Amino acid sequence: MSIEEQGGQKTAASKIAPAKGKLGVMVVGLGAVATTMIAGVEAVRRGLAKPIGSLTQMGTIRLGKRTDNKSPLIKDFIPLADLNDVVFTAWDIFEDNAYEAAAHAKVLEEKLLEQVKPYLETIKPLPAVFDQYYVKRLNGTHIKHGKTKRDLANQVMEDIKAFQKTVDRVVVIWAASTEIFIKPSAVHQSIEAFEAGLDNNDIGISSSQIYAYAALSLGVPFANGAPNLTVDFPAMVELSKKNSAPICGRDFKTGQTMMKTVLAPAFKARMLGVSGWFSTNILGNRDGEVLDDPESFKTKEESKLGSLDYIFQPELYPDLYKDLYHKIRINYYPPRGDQKEAWDNIDIFGWLGYPMQIKVNFLCRDSILAAPIALDLILFMDLAKRTPALRSIGVQEWLSFYLKAPQTAEGLYPEHDLFIQSMKLKNTLRHIMGVDLITHLGLEYYD
Ligand SMILES: NC(=O)c1ccc[n+]([C@@H]2O[C@H](COP(=O)([O-])OP(=O)(O)OC[C@H]3O[C@@H](n4cnc5c(N)ncnc54)[C@H](O)[C@@H]3O)[C@@H](O)[C@H]2O)c1
Repeated sequence: MSIEEQGGQKTAASKIAPAKGKLGVMVVGLGAVATTMIAGVEAVRRGLAKPIGSLTQMGTIRLGKRTDNKSPLIKDFIPLADLNDVVFTAWDIFEDNAYEAAAHAKVLEEKLLEQVKPYLETIKPLPAVFDQYYVKRLNGTHIKHGKTKRDLANQVMEDIKAFQKTVDRVVVIWAASTEIFIKPSAVHQSIEAFEAGLDNNDIGISSSQIYAYAALSLGVPFANGAPNLTVDFPAMVELSKKNSAPICGRDFKTGQTMMKTVLAPAFKARMLGVSGWFSTNILGNRDGEVLDDPESFKTKEESKLGSLDYIFQPELYPDLYKDLYHKIRINYYPPRGDQKEAWDNIDIFGWLGYPMQIKVNFLCRDSILAAPIALDLILFMDLAKRTPALRSIGVQEWLSFYLKAPQTAEGLYPEHDLFIQSMKLKNTLRHIMGVDLITHLGLEYYD
């Protein structure tokens, strides 16, 4: 379907650079999420499975009026990279290739893994930037050495430049372990302060920030799938805008938080009160082991806690939400592996204050939920880089849909409601393609 047939204006859409050639994806962390995504992309390319959970691959977008009956696939509407043009590489603190790492993660069944083994074996991680101070439970051996953090950033830049020679465009995504909780400090306030911090090994600069700095310095988009402080501070926003390198974060919104940001907006829309929300999880993968460390857990907890406050707006609805007690627990329980179990007990109240309870028991597969999110973020970040209206704005808030603690422009509160996020994402796609936004007003049908 041509842009005109879809009701679009050629001028807006034609300004987006085409997705020509190879898209190189550099994944930081070749663990459960990364290998599940990479193996999955290869399985889809070979027709072995379907990309379920991926909006870019399976989603449609309505254009025009409901009576127009125009709902193309998103990937036919906007110029996204084709999965056949995606090339992966990674960094990790262990030398295992993607097949060995996937086998270790035990997410995918052996039968599927064997079918994509020859491809996965070709993906061998580059040595990582790693300092145990930021992830206490890991001890890596496959790491870079340098006197200063600046040296390490330069080495990452060399890796990126070498990869850039083999592909047409590059996107970097953080799917590595959750680092300890870091509060932004003076070193994070400007590019100059951050660069001085790189030179004098400032403790506020974590490994993830070194990768992000390297990518953004080269104009390469960077998405953060974990809750650590990585691109969400002034120095990175400045660098992102300066070099037209889109950023987004934090933390893939997969299981429990996804459910939370679906249920909470429903209670609020119906003016039902909530007095308590207790969320607990058991999981036994490496992520669970890392989160067993109180400092990494704190980072995750902060990321998970925010959503309810923003959705409920207790300052606007004190009678309904001011006394909400919200508690989150993550328990490392090895027998469960990647197959996390989450329980939510929600104490709500209705008409005249009468109490009720809701129990949600989600038996999910963490990496099965995260893999399509990582893929979509990669493809959309590449689109953002090719789109004049998006490439130099810094934070890609329209990708909040995928994130637990969405980054926004300074001074804005984040939108957590999944359906507002979905509308925002689709309207952004309509906007950059020059077609009418959909407001759901619908009065035109009754003229
Ligand atoms: N699976 C989910 O549903 C989900 C949801 C939201 C966020 N996340 C986050 O995504 C990240 C990845 O999750 P996972 O389940 O794949 O974890 P994982 O432990 O299986 O994989 C993480 C990988 O990162 C590597 N690593 C650690 N520090 C590194 C560094 N500095 N450089 C390069 N590699 C490094 C580890 O060696 C490991 O292989 C975690 O931070 C997790 O909290 C996962």
